[in-house]
Amino acid sequence: MNAPLIAIYGATGHTGRLVAAELLSRGRDIVLSGRDAGALRALADELGPPERVRTHAAPLDDRTSLRELTESASVLIHCAGPYAETGAPVASAAAEAGCHYVDHAVEPHHVRYMFDSLQATAERTGAVMIPQMSFYGGLADLLAAAVAEGLTEVDRVTVGYAVTGWRMTRGARKTAELLIGEIDRVTFTDGALRVGPVEIRNTVFPFPPPVGPRTMIAPFPSGEVVTIPRHVPARTVESQLTSRTFEEEQVFTSEDADAQARARTEFTVAAQVTSPGGGGRNGHVSGRDIWWVGAVASVEAAVRLAEGGGPGKSGVLGAAEAFPAVPFLRTLEHLGALTVSLEAPRTPPAESPAT
Ligand SMILES: NC(=O)c1ccc[n+]([C@@H]2O[C@H](COP(=O)([O-])OP(=O)(O)OC[C@H]3O[C@@H](n4cnc5c(N)ncnc54)[C@H](OP(=O)(O)O)[C@@H]3O)[C@@H](O)[C@H]2O)c1
Repeated sequence: MNAPLIAIYGATGHTGRLVAAELLSRGRDIVLSGRDAGALRALADELGPPERVRTHAAPLDDRTSLRELTESASVLIHCAGPYAETGAPVASAAAEAGCHYVDHAVEPHHVRYMFDSLQATAERTGAVMIPQMSFYGGLADLLAAAVAEGLTEVDRVTVGYAVTGWRMTRGARKTAELLIGEIDRVTFTDGALRVGPVEIRNTVFPFPPPVGPRTMIAPFPSGEVVTIPRHVPARTVESQLTSRTFEEEQVFTSEDADAQARARTEFTVAAQVTSPGGGGRNGHVSGRDIWWVGAVASVEAAVRLAEGGGPGKSGVLGAAEAFPAVPFLRTLEHLGALTVSLEAPRTPPAESPAT
């Protein structure tokens, strides 16, 4: 049986460090993993005593080390990206070992790969695997579930991300560049997941005050197009990002920024759910520091899984399939990571009485 340890793959990166600090602050013992043994040991010395912070070097091409890592931990938080490169070897090792798994992927192709290729293995070994339990992806999945709760028919789910002050790390920049250059995009339209070229357009998303209406890049490639249709009966799901986010000067030139500078982001993630007959519902979450909210979301999920507070079934699951959406978002709010605003269902205007 696996020990109730939580391991972090890609622990030396910005996200990995935030995740490690958050786990230690919650009293968890951790295993730092990644490809560079020296960097992992240096980080362990910085973070805490050896009985609480262990290291386990496991380069992606070393299947034996990855297997030993996933057999020694009860949950693995995968923080190394781009997931186009790191996703399959780490996630498949976790699935085979029955090690619960959460990651920070943005990439729709990685999320799709997990559902298509690891579902049967995870179900057999008892692993609960939740891709993109982070800022991009997981929050949108939870929010869409919360906003659409109880609806039996949904025409369209639109997720709007308003992000300012984003200072990309090396890993985030490489990921963004791969996504921007991607020809075959994953989309969900007319009730089906599709892969192929799409036309990128500008549109306007009506964020609530104080953000207000913003020009958006649409579609923005994030993996919730794969997860939301699994639990919201929508015909179309699309994510969009404020155009201004990529126009800010610092976004692609901040690989050397320190953690304090990176923390100075502001965000609103909004979900607009429209019904086939008109009307609809809105909800949003907002806050500061997209990196920290992502780290807290993944740690909250990992701790629940380590303590047996998972969904009661194994397999690959979206965030809102694994955990009830509103209570999970409220927990993140309670932890100070964001504020949640869910609009009461709107009813169509009453018809005038006949005279
Ligand atoms: N969904 C979200 O909202 C969200 C939030 C945060 C991060 N992310 C994603 O998470 C990933 C990491 O972001 P970050 O900001 O932490 O980046 P980062 O600070 O640049 O760190 C990247 C980490 O990944 C490791 N890594 C990269 N390529 C590797 C490989 N081939 N084999 C083993 N390890 C490898 C690096 O190890 P070395 O130190 O050895 O290079 C480092 O530990 C990115 O893909 C980013 O897009 C997503």
